[in-house]
Amino acid sequence: MKLADRMSRIGTESAFDVLARARALEAEGRDIVHLQIGEPDFDTPAHVTEAGIQALRDGYTHYVPALGIPALRDVIADYISKTRGISVGRQNVCVAPGGKPIMFWTIMALCQEGDEVIVPDPSYPIYESMARVVGAKVVPLPILEERNFTFAAEDLAARLTPRTKLVVLNSPANPTGGMLDKTDIEAVADVLRDHDCYILSDEIYSRILYSGEHYSVAAEPDLLDRTIILDGFSKTYAMTGWRLGYGIFPEDLMPHIDRLAVNSVSCTNAATQMAGIAALTGPQDCVERMVEEIERRRDYIVDGLNAIPGITCQKPLGAFYVFPNVTGLGLPSKVLADRILAEAGVALLSGTAFGGYGEGYLRLSYANSIPNIQKALDRIAALAKTLN
Ligand SMILES: Cc1ncc(COP(=O)(O)O)c(C=O)c1O
Repeated sequence: MKLADRMSRIGTESAFDVLARARALEAEGRDIVHLQIGEPDFDTPAHVTEAGIQALRDGYTHYVPALGIPALRDVIADYISKTRGISVGRQNVCVAPGGKPIMFWTIMALCQEGDEVIVPDPSYPIYESMARVVGAKVVPLPILEERNFTFAAEDLAARLTPRTKLVVLNSPANPTGGMLDKTDIEAVADVLRDHDCYILSDEIYSRILYSGEHYSVAAEPDLLDRTIILDGFSKTYAMTGWRLGYGIFPEDLMPHIDRLAVNSVSCTNAATQMAGIAALTGPQDCVERMVEEIERRRDYIVDGLNAIPGITCQKPLGAFYVFPNVTGLGLPSKVLADRILAEAGVALLSGTAFGGYGEGYLRLSYANSIPNIQKALDRIAALAKTLN
């Protein structure tokens, strides 16, 4: 079989590979704790599920416009305008089957060979994968533990060139839980304001933060007309399997994103979109309760990891991942992650699944129950003892 050259450049999301390996071990009768996957273990709020079911009964079983059902686009525009302190309307909103297609379409629409895309490292692997698929050069922006898993604006400035077409930001961040506060964003905006490039601001964890307030680069003067905000329902409303996300685009990009949506998915599931309206317009206490519970688990896992000799772990400020430093255990991250799965029965990810600067770290998702987290900690501690 002779595949297209671009297939040699496409990456993957290791969480799905590790999930498959963990399932294979389970099929052999092994008990595995799953801390690899990035999804809340909560149910979708009942009123949201009911709205989806009702929509199916009401006949939302047909094609709808590629950019989304107008009523949902209006609700999203309203929500983003209020939460980001900006003014956007339906004409800026593209609904998609998850947040992920927004990355794909943005990069397809804007980047090509000869362009450079600045991507945080470590970060969600799909930014790099898609940039490489379209032939662009990926320029890693180091995300450092000593900076509380953020980057210095000077480091960004040093990587900008006349070829920089797109800068990716992600706050709160996967895989580190790091967060750019208003002062950080202002410094980043000062650097980007003078440079003619687009910004993809992945804000999918904007509601999952434990202190402080989310602040979007789109709120900074002069940047709204070249910023794409990515957000969605997967994490905030525990709706990963529904597949519902969206992008906020500068209006002049919208016809092109529309064509990419038509070419790839035709439209997003109609009933799912009606559930999305219920999620954004209904009671929000379900989100608050979920975040409080996830925060309790964060504190639990951070304390537990720090109690294991050879591991140190910062307290993440948002999202639901910890990124412990495991250099004290003396193994490369990937080898360690594989051994923890094979020998201790805990599925987690090597920091290197998110970029070269992830060496020396593991990523664990703590959107799991305290008993499961405790079981994982006990198993990792037992394995770590044999390594010290
Ligand atoms: C940083 C980040 N952006 C986007 C996504 C994609 O989310 P969705 O499931 O809505 O496609 C994820 C999922 O893990 C993520 O971690």
